[in-house]
Amino acid sequence: MSRIRTAVIGTGFMGRVHLEALRRVENVDVVEVAATSLKKAKAAGAGYNILNVTGDWKDVINDPSIDAVHVATPNASHHMIAKAALEAGKHVLCEKPLAMSVAEAQELTDLAAAKKLRGGLCHNLRYYPMVQQIRAMREAGALGEILVVQGTYSQDWMLYESDWNWRVDPLVSGPSRVMADIGSHFFDMAEHLSGLKVTEVCSDLQIFHPTRKQPKGGGESFSGKLGAAGETVDTKVVTEDFGATLFRMGKARGTMTASQVSAGRKNGLVMEIYGTKGGVSWSQERPEELWLGHRDAPNQFLMKDPSLLDEKARAFADYPGGHAEGYPDTHKQLYRRFYASIADPTLTPDYPQFADGLRQMKILDAELASHKNRAWVSVPA
Ligand SMILES: NC(=O)c1ccc[n+]([C@@H]2O[C@H](COP(=O)([O-])OP(=O)(O)OC[C@H]3O[C@@H](n4cnc5c(N)ncnc54)[C@H](O)[C@@H]3O)[C@@H](O)[C@H]2O)c1
Repeated sequence: MSRIRTAVIGTGFMGRVHLEALRRVENVDVVEVAATSLKKAKAAGAGYNILNVTGDWKDVINDPSIDAVHVATPNASHHMIAKAALEAGKHVLCEKPLAMSVAEAQELTDLAAAKKLRGGLCHNLRYYPMVQQIRAMREAGALGEILVVQGTYSQDWMLYESDWNWRVDPLVSGPSRVMADIGSHFFDMAEHLSGLKVTEVCSDLQIFHPTRKQPKGGGESFSGKLGAAGETVDTKVVTEDFGATLFRMGKARGTMTASQVSAGRKNGLVMEIYGTKGGVSWSQERPEELWLGHRDAPNQFLMKDPSLLDEKARAFADYPGGHAEGYPDTHKQLYRRFYASIADPTLTPDYPQFADGLRQMKILDAELASHKNRAWVSVPA
């Protein structure tokens, strides 16, 4: 297979991010875009010079010339679309969370394996160069034995009662909001970087707005202050605005919070890892910087510069020092590796896969059970 033919389903925030990043992948042609209406699909297609557009995602599935599919729709449709694509023999790159339940995620993981198709999952935040630097340092033993993993994922876009998004609706988003939407990114990164697995959790979730003002016409994700004013209906909220989880990774211990109501925090993922030899701290709001903590020497501050990075991390930095690589670049890095693994079926995937999505669903399930029962809950392997 020389050039791989792919299609993007969903043309909201993520659909556009996928379309843009796919332009930077060498061996891929985006041949179709699917939205909920032909009009929406045409508008998205025009922006990226994609001539084939459809208002029905099944057209993509039924086109045998398409090799791979990106699923960038709200959570509830991931399982249905990914399953249909796999059954039609297509590789799938799916947005997180992989599904609405452990059972759905398990089915997709098994199906991809049975069909010998690639199932990639968009935990793209792994691919900031400085995040990969942490991973390389841990693998080289620079942190020693991991003792503590801690951090937060804080945003403010749901602070007001008038803030609304499909993520508030459990039928579209699932039984958890904040922990599924952004907590899953935290735990994916925590396990990826530490090399440890979360074994037990103790979670406390909170709904600050028991009702929210749902716009009668719907609303775009992350429109913030630009959100459309208009007629609204008071809608009961059943998923959390905030969550806190204590967790165990075998002997290591951790804490995390996830919030969509933290004023001023736009996309504040902070990851700190402390081992017997040293510590690291990284923040997504300042992604080019890495704090290196030492007990017996002055602490250091590493600014992204490929020539100063570990060789393994350098493979994720495409620009020289001082030339910032940010969120869109993390998608590019993930997609490149996904499509390289399609072009060469012998390659061992080095990107998050459906099994990682299943893992996140298991952690999420345990968090929900822990909150409900006010108790520690084990996370199955
Ligand atoms: N990896 C990340 O960093 C990241 C960031 C944000 C969102 N996401 C994930 O991406 C997914 C989409 O989120 P978003 O923020 O782009 O939402 P969004 O509301 O901006 O966009 C979703 C789009 O999907 C369309 N859609 C819904 N059902 C469809 C269907 N059956 N066929 C075709 N199109 C359909 C909607 O009309 C909308 O345009 C979610 O699962 C979310 O969790 C991931």
